[in-house]
Formats: sequence, structure tokens, C-alpha cells
Amino acid sequence: MSQQIIEKIQTLKKQRNAVILAHYYQPPEIQEIADFAGDSLGLSVQAAGTDADVIVFCGVMFMAETAAILSPDKTVLIPDVNAGCPMADMITAEQLRQFQAEHPGALTVSYVNSTAEVKALSDYCCTSSNAVQLVESLPADRGILFVPDQNLGNHVKRETGRNIVLWPGYCRSHVLIQPDEVQRLKAEHPEAVVLAHPECTDPVKDLADALLSTGQMLTYVKERPAPAFIIATELGILHPLKQVNSSTTYIPASEKAFCENMKKISLEKVLWALEDMKTHVQVPAEVAGQAKLALDRMIEVLPQK
Ligand code: 13P
Ligand code: SF4
Repeated sequence: MSQQIIEKIQTLKKQRNAVILAHYYQPPEIQEIADFAGDSLGLSVQAAGTDADVIVFCGVMFMAETAAILSPDKTVLIPDVNAGCPMADMITAEQLRQFQAEHPGALTVSYVNSTAEVKALSDYCCTSSNAVQLVESLPADRGILFVPDQNLGNHVKRETGRNIVLWPGYCRSHVLIQPDEVQRLKAEHPEAVVLAHPECTDPVKDLADALLSTGQMLTYVKERPAPAFIIATELGILHPLKQVNSSTTYIPASEKAFCENMKKISLEKVLWALEDMKTHVQVPAEVAGQAKLALDRMIEVLPQK
């Protein structure tokens, strides 16, 4: 059955001149049919540069919106319109306006996991791959408002020593990773290297050997092999990790680190999206124009390897 669906997807993809982009947290079968699987920054770069007419975005809404903003002349489809990001919804445009009014003169850096309206009010966007480099490039005398993820924001604050005011948002999949569980796994597997995503809480990050975006985790396990890795991020990453280095052991830091929104995308829904050309993600031109300025500044900043 799945093979039939995959064949239909491939045929329709050619007819529509479509490209399928998938985040590393997507179900394995979706990553397998994608033309490009990647982290948030890699996906934005792909979305901005593709010459396809249609982008089928297998991820969550803020990612599809980002693709629509970066490629306004393309048709961006999301296979499930209910695939949202609870963290992105933790700050509204109105709340950001109020936050900015309370901190006049500060620059606003928004994590790409935010709504288009919030990006439009921001000076810069960043992803977990380039947040530290981006903040380091900003004038030293300016205060910075970082929204919406307090955990990534605090990582940037600690790394750069900059005057950053944090918004109290968080990723509910990453905060379920508990430090005592990581400590127990470390004691059981003393040979394991701990890789954590900056969306984890500080006590988990303090136990890690490296703090990396999803894409950086793949580079790490390829270039710095170890007998085992404890992986503190969403469980979808285990699939591409095994593909880039299958000769090691991956131990999830928590079986609870599961993003149900990322898993709303299925092969059937990808096929229906291409058949019906739905759901078309559109961002009002004025919001998109403003948000694009912040996103273009994000894409210019090269991440740390
Ligand atoms: P990255 O893939 O950029 O590390 O982002 C993680 C994430 O939470 C995406 O929703
Ligand atoms: Fe949002 Fe967290 Fe899911 Fe990423 S993993 S989409 S930040 S809820």
C-alpha cells in the first residue's frame, strides 16, 4: 500500500513541478520521500533557492509560512493545516509590541519558531544553528529581546554574555527531557557522548558534551564517532542519525520527547496535498514583506559547524 502511495506521489510531484521538504523530526517515511530533509536553517535556504513551482512542506506551520515568505512566487502546501508549533504560539504580535514598548531601544531577535506576524515585528530571525553567531554580530551596546524560546535564548545569553531579555516560551517536547533521567543514562553508559538541543532546559544542557541544532548533531556523529550517543532532542532525529552513522548506538534521553505536531504529516496526506493542491499557505503581503527582511538577515549568518 505505501509503495503505491509513494509512486503516486512521485508521479504527481513531476506533473506539478513540486519539491518535498521535510524536517528531521518528521516520520521516517516522510524523510525518505523528501527531496531535501534538513534542520530549520537548511530548509529555509532550500525554500528560498528552489526553482520548483510548488513546495510541499512536511513540517509545522511556521516552517511552511517561512517558505511562503522566502518564496512569494511559489505555491507552498502543508499536508496538515493543524500541524502547529505550541512554542511559536506562546507569543502573539500584540504581546511582542507590548514587550518592545517596555524595552525601548532594544533589538528584537525572534527564533524562527514564531508566527509570521511576530517575525514581521522583529529585527532579526535566527535558528538554533546560528543564534549565537547572529547575536554576536549585533552592536554590543544594544539590549536584545529574544522570543519566544527562553531555553535557546538563555543558551545564547550564556554564550555571548550579552544583555538579553527573555520571553518565557518553551518547547513542550524538549522540556519533558529530565536531568535525572539523563544523569541515570550517563551513569549506565559512561562511554556515551551527550548531545542536547538548546531547546532543552538548563539542567539538561549542563549535562551535555555539546549543544547542537538537529543538523549539527548529524555532522557531529559523522565527524566525531563515539561508541554511543545520548540524544536529547525530539525522537525523529534518530532516523537521520542512523543514516549518517549506523555503526554506533543512539540512546534517546527521553521517550517522551515526541512532537505530536511534527507527526501529523503522513504519506496519505502528502498525496492528498498534491492531488488537491491543499492547504495553500499564504501570508498577507505586508506581513510577508516585513518578515522577509528579518529572515534574509538570518540566512546571511553562517552557522557554527
Ligand atoms: P532545528 O532543526 O533547527 O534544530 O530546530 C528544531 C525544532 O524545534 C524545529 O521545530
Ligand atoms: Fe515546536 Fe517543539 Fe515541535 Fe519544534 S519540537 S515544532 S519547537 S513543539
